[in-house]
Amino acid sequence: MAVTEPAQAAEPADRPPADGPAADRPTVAHEGILRRQSLRESAARTYARSLPIVPVRARGLTIEGADGRRYLDCLSGAGTLALGHNHPVVLEAIKKVIDSGAPLHVLDLATPVKDAFTTELFATLPRGLADDARVQFCGPAGTDAVEAALKLVRTATGRSGLLAFTGAYHGMTAGALEASGGAPDVGVTRLPYPYDYRCPFGTGGEHGAELSARWTANLLDDPKGGVPRPAGMILEPVQGEGGVIPAPDSWLRRMREITADRSIPLIVDEVQTGVGRTGTFWAVEHSGIVPDVMVMSKAIGGSLPLAVIVYRAELDAWQPGAHAGTFRGNQLAMAAGAATLAFVRENALADRARMLGARMLGRLRQLAAAHPVIGDVRGRGLMLGVELVDREGNPGHVPAPATAEPRTPGPVPAAPASPALAAAVQQECLRRGLIVEVGGRHSAVVRLLPPLTLTDEQAEAVLDRLADALAAAERSPYRAGRTRAPLDTYSQEPAGTTC
Ligand SMILES: Cc1ncc(COP(=O)(O)O)c(C=O)c1O
Repeated sequence: MAVTEPAQAAEPADRPPADGPAADRPTVAHEGILRRQSLRESAARTYARSLPIVPVRARGLTIEGADGRRYLDCLSGAGTLALGHNHPVVLEAIKKVIDSGAPLHVLDLATPVKDAFTTELFATLPRGLADDARVQFCGPAGTDAVEAALKLVRTATGRSGLLAFTGAYHGMTAGALEASGGAPDVGVTRLPYPYDYRCPFGTGGEHGAELSARWTANLLDDPKGGVPRPAGMILEPVQGEGGVIPAPDSWLRRMREITADRSIPLIVDEVQTGVGRTGTFWAVEHSGIVPDVMVMSKAIGGSLPLAVIVYRAELDAWQPGAHAGTFRGNQLAMAAGAATLAFVRENALADRARMLGARMLGRLRQLAAAHPVIGDVRGRGLMLGVELVDREGNPGHVPAPATAEPRTPGPVPAAPASPALAAAVQQECLRRGLIVEVGGRHSAVVRLLPPLTLTDEQAEAVLDRLADALAAAERSPYRAGRTRAPLDTYSQEPAGTTC
């Protein structure tokens, strides 16, 4: 398509796969760097364990490693790179700021770059929020913006409790972690997120989602429910790290209704779903809901760190300096971000993501029909997931039938998740020059987050490599879940949480 620079369109599919002949590869530098990383960096390092590559050059979908191998990058900086690596409009925007002599560090002072970013951001906001919104620039990461959102609603309501969902991921700082599904529960009331394949109520579909909504309303209205009125509710419209689980639009509308009726601010975390990723500019647009607070990061910085919250003006109860921070004025990120937002908007890349994502999902469903180890495929736009299961690991468990059609919601018990097979698929993908993420509740969901500039040809190449990798992983000794694929070449330690 026209929006993708021609040089990258045909490249990846034409290149030899990553496990091609090794004779002329500069592997020595590559291995030295990896070894030193393994020795010097903390045990918390994440992607580096399952993806032992040393990127030295990148363009669009393609990353080139220090060993000379080329990879199709469907991790995209954990969903950050809406336009892929080093898109010309992003590079141009960064160069322009540098060449202009503008200061790079400005705290939260007004600048023309910031003004342009804010204007572009407001132009993309859902109607109903844009008209009367405030923006707060936060620390550089998504988790900083989540912290700011929680603090804002606590200040505005004078209340402290929080409603959050099973499977949620909001970041790694204290408050964001507390709101995430994997955290030991502290001051957060955990509610069931609708998860069709592993429905907490055993029903699935719209009915499962409705039961989740009913449970929520009932808990809030029950005077002996043990849940005093909270400061806010936080949710992701599509859970990313939770396993690519799109919430039904009707459920999101119910959450909006339930919170509005009870004067509970609704915070929607669009850190991963924003900027066209799910097929609309912001994922809330699918359901038409207008949140009280939106949390944004990743793609809004055009590959550089930037995080903001946008919220209804009446929540702006903060005193001057109530939420400060030294690094809230990243001029390069604002310039790169404004260019990215404008490019996505002007080229209707959200529509492109919706159409291409639907096509890719169709092909993944065909793959599921041919491979019973695929328990479920799902996603929205270019946020896709393949959940791998162990059909043999739990005798007596009724497996869900694989089908080429969208799964009919209903009380179909899910097979046990297979993190070992997912890890093996990820490694087989890497051998074939494809970078994918693994996530989900049990680390059993292979995730695709390609740039929105993905061409049809690249999409086919990605799916071909994934299909091939899946077939190889099925034959591998790791598939049954009794052995784990070695993820970290240098430490042989299992990977931890991603993102
Ligand atoms: C929905 C969501 N919220 C928050 C975060 C945290 O963002 P960061 O890793 O930039 O702190 C992530 C990261 O993946 C995310 O997916």
